[in-house]
Amino acid sequence: MENPYEKRDLRFRKFKKRDPSLSFGRYMAERMHASLARGDIGNPDGAISVALGESFWSAGEARARTLLAAIAPVPTDKIIDYGCGALRIGAHFIRRQNPGCFLGLDLIDGFYEFGKQAVGAALLAEKAPRFHLIDEAGIALGEAFGADVVYSNVVCVHVHPDETAEYFGNLLRLTHKPGARLVFSARISPTPVRFEFDGWSWPLAFYRDALCELELVRTVLGKPSTRNGFETQPIDFEFRRRG
Ligand SMILES: C[S@@+](CC[C@H](N)C(=O)[O-])C[C@H]1O[C@@H](n2cnc3c(N)ncnc32)[C@H](O)[C@@H]1O
Repeated sequence: MENPYEKRDLRFRKFKKRDPSLSFGRYMAERMHASLARGDIGNPDGAISVALGESFWSAGEARARTLLAAIAPVPTDKIIDYGCGALRIGAHFIRRQNPGCFLGLDLIDGFYEFGKQAVGAALLAEKAPRFHLIDEAGIALGEAFGADVVYSNVVCVHVHPDETAEYFGNLLRLTHKPGARLVFSARISPTPVRFEFDGWSWPLAFYRDALCELELVRTVLGKPSTRNGFETQPIDFEFRRRG
């Protein structure tokens, strides 16, 4: 079948040839960060660009409320936001949790630096959230942090098929504590589907198999939608480590 993204895939492969350590995720993040840094905001309601506008706190409020209701953390719960971006969601967890109870991880630091500006020095000083890149040191830091809850909002859908093993492997490492919970959003479809250049959907069994060390305790399905001719359905997952 013809690949509608052939040119853009080729462009990524050219960059990767120059820097073999470059992942698709970091390639996309660096490109977006470069546009934002030169003032090309694009969609002002985008997950990252909201940190550069006035609507930062309201932009993530509804989704954060849904996640907070589902997770119902106690203030001392240690929480990792995997793929925290510019803290559109993370800011609400930082505000609510006790000092030192939040760790944000992302592929590039530029996104969470935008978010830190938006959160403001006073709240950062009061709550002492921590941040790190998603690399071996960041995952090791996350393991030592001893998370009670790891959440990953609108990240999985952007993970390139060559990088899903690392994504789920990292989530498993971060949820090593007995009873630790993993909450993340994704999309499902009867067969694997690339519904946009950086958007993938998988059958439900794919997620369950990738996280078979954990118990699947909850799924919440959203309204199916069609993009580029592919129908996929949003889903929120909660997995839990037995213990
Ligand atoms: C759409 S943004 C969502 C940001 C934030 N979670 C939110 O809801 O506002 C996706 C984020 O996932 C991060 N990310 C982490 N791992 C990734 C991966 N393997 N592939 C793509 N993006 C990844 C990106 O750098 C980006 O910050």
